[in-house]
Amino acid sequence: MTQTQDPASAAVAARGPHATPHGHGGPDAPLTEADFAAMTTEEAMIAAAREDGVILIHRRQRFPVAGTKAEKRAELAVSACFLTGFLAVVAFVVCFVAVPFKYHLPGQGSQAFQYYTPILGACLAVALFAIGIGAVLWAKWLMPEEEAVQDRHDGAADPADSAAMIQTLLAGLEDTGLKRRSMLKVTLGLAGGALAAAPLVSLVGGMIKKPGDAMFTTLWSKNTPMVYDDGRRVSPDDIAPGGITTVFPGVEGGLLASDSPVLLIRLLPGQRVEARENQSGFGWGDYVAYSKICTHAGCPASLYERQTSRLLCPCHQSQFDVLKDAKPVFGPASRSLPKLPIDVETVDGKSYFVSRSDFTEAIGPGFWERP
Ligand code: FES
Repeated sequence: MTQTQDPASAAVAARGPHATPHGHGGPDAPLTEADFAAMTTEEAMIAAAREDGVILIHRRQRFPVAGTKAEKRAELAVSACFLTGFLAVVAFVVCFVAVPFKYHLPGQGSQAFQYYTPILGACLAVALFAIGIGAVLWAKWLMPEEEAVQDRHDGAADPADSAAMIQTLLAGLEDTGLKRRSMLKVTLGLAGGALAAAPLVSLVGGMIKKPGDAMFTTLWSKNTPMVYDDGRRVSPDDIAPGGITTVFPGVEGGLLASDSPVLLIRLLPGQRVEARENQSGFGWGDYVAYSKICTHAGCPASLYERQTSRLLCPCHQSQFDVLKDAKPVFGPASRSLPKLPIDVETVDGKSYFVSRSDFTEAIGPGFWERP
């Protein structure tokens, strides 16, 4: 069933029982705030539109009789969309915390990490899509149908226009039916609130997934074997004078820990490192070991110039003088590369490098530049 309303008669009706046909001041006088106050919100909106040159071609309520089964079905469908949006945000939060996100070396566990980001994206996409569909269906199925035209005008709005605009917005709010559709109010609140809170999940999830003391230590400790990236142990015989190699802690996860790669350097004959205070015994023979993580911004400082004994970081060209205990001598880095205390153990008659302890200072940039 449809109801249409002639714009002219709508405007007359909009005057309400207490208003004069054209406002308190006579037929041609503009409507005043008192006129608006005497009308219902819808009447005021229609009258205001008329005053502002808006011609209402057509307006009808979707459900002139409130509370019909058809209306309830429409409300239920829209609520289902909002509820789906809410549940998708809940799923997003659960997946953020529960889905495995760590890469494993081949053969060392499931590679479920590759689904982590797509799952999070899918949950948010479903949430946004469901809420969007709900909003569209709400407008199309429940809010009044309306067509209006208006000529564009120049200049700033006068106070009466502003008052009219307020009435229009209020009427729009009333048209949503939020006041009487409590199910929509609840489901929209759930979905909108959950979506607005979704960006906070990284903070909350971060509190659930506590890093412990992982930011203050590395995997190096007393007698941790040094290994290559294929797991073989590192022997002093492997490196020629002036040579350098990247080594890792030979413990579980040692190849993947971003703060643990170490540069093991064999000095040229006759070279000697000016050690920092309390670090004179950190090397072993001609060998010294430094963190590979640049103290400027965390890139791998892995280019070694044998003749000048300088390590170069390719990201912003910081240079570290190995003979000055990896002190920065060029570029933006301001702190020496941390030195790892090393030793050698003998297994089956062959010597292999081990660490004597963890680093005694912080690895990498920024946060770590504290005593
Ligand atoms: S990260 Fe090494 S110089 Fe910037």
